[in-house]
Amino acid sequence: MSTARNTFLLLSCFFLIVAVSTAFTDFNFYPKFKNCHDAENIVRDVVEGYVKKDPGLGAGLIRMFFHDCFVRGCDASILLDKYDNTDTEKFAIPNNPSLRGFEVIDAAKEKLEKEYPGVVSCADIIAFAARDAAYFLSKGKISYNIPSGRLDGRISIKDEVLPALPAPFHNLTEQKVLYEAKGISTAEMVALLGAHSIGRSHCSSFTSRLYPTIDPTMDPGFASNLKNKCPDPKNKPVDGVVVQDFLTPDKLDNEYYDNVKALKSLFFSDWSLLTSDETRELVTEFSEKPEFFAEKFAEAMIKLGNIEVKTGTQGEIRKSCRVVNYPTTTAPPPPANVPTTRAPPPPANVPTTMAPPPPYPTY
Ligand code: HEM
Repeated sequence: MSTARNTFLLLSCFFLIVAVSTAFTDFNFYPKFKNCHDAENIVRDVVEGYVKKDPGLGAGLIRMFFHDCFVRGCDASILLDKYDNTDTEKFAIPNNPSLRGFEVIDAAKEKLEKEYPGVVSCADIIAFAARDAAYFLSKGKISYNIPSGRLDGRISIKDEVLPALPAPFHNLTEQKVLYEAKGISTAEMVALLGAHSIGRSHCSSFTSRLYPTIDPTMDPGFASNLKNKCPDPKNKPVDGVVVQDFLTPDKLDNEYYDNVKALKSLFFSDWSLLTSDETRELVTEFSEKPEFFAEKFAEAMIKLGNIEVKTGTQGEIRKSCRVVNYPTTTAPPPPANVPTTRAPPPPANVPTTMAPPPPYPTY
């Protein structure tokens, strides 16, 4: 009897361990483990509504996913608002003022909280929303399932953003180092950059390629067009915006690679894909094979979504995506002189000047 009971307990534990350890890798996490059959549909409907009205928001959501996952992992730290006058990730130069789509996440979260209170993490909402934006902007050509079960982080620090994200003035080696640090291969990096076939850029991210002289790595005709849209920042302090792909600005397709080959991409970092055999060949392959690009882009987005995912006691399911949850009544409030974990300032021994100021006011 007791042997049978022990075996039962052992087996239960085994199944529990399997369930817990496979939870994140599960493609049907919410229906299977949380009995929330509509969670992904709710996000998809919200994204569809917003993207129909403004395709740029879809571009913003894909970029938001990238910027979230590269800083502290895919934990929605990008969504936390300023706390106690301490700036969070969303206030860092790569995100402010350019990152958009926050209202889409808020709307999805509101609906999910009504339907399934306290169940769907903001980190998963970003991953679903980016996936759905890719689907709608590619007219269904980019279609994939993404594992879920990510938890939301409790910390977001502005100064961690600049050193973690690639910049538009980075050369190929500088970019590769940052992707490798997150376990993303060079081929996956090149596939992800196809996202620069949608959305927009502020002029400040590339005017150094136009003034005082046109960068020889840029097509001269393309550069003159850009100069019309983006006057010399010395004379015009307002930072304008241009679309990234002048032919099909709202379509997520492989046009980006044609643009790179034709020296008609906005950023020095885009052009730098032509500076190694490996990346140049990938650019050619993606530009010639749209289906291959769609497949590799989807795979790379799934990989991006696996970066430093929080599970177990590492995170929580936020009630509002903009603030961490209040301490529960079971946990005593932190002593008055100890900062809460909501968004602490950077460690005292790390100077805030750690990252050199970027040459451009915005990107
Ligand atoms: C070397 C790596 C990268 C660099 C240097 C870079 C840089 C930039 C910059 C400067 C902008 C313009 C932002 C603005 O001024 O509004 C931008 C836009 C964008 N980026 Fe990247 N990016 C990189 C990689 C990626 C990746 C991996 C993705 C997606 C998976 C991505 C998706 C986008 C999208 C969709 C936009 C348009 C956003 C919008 O219209 O709101 N980027 N990127």
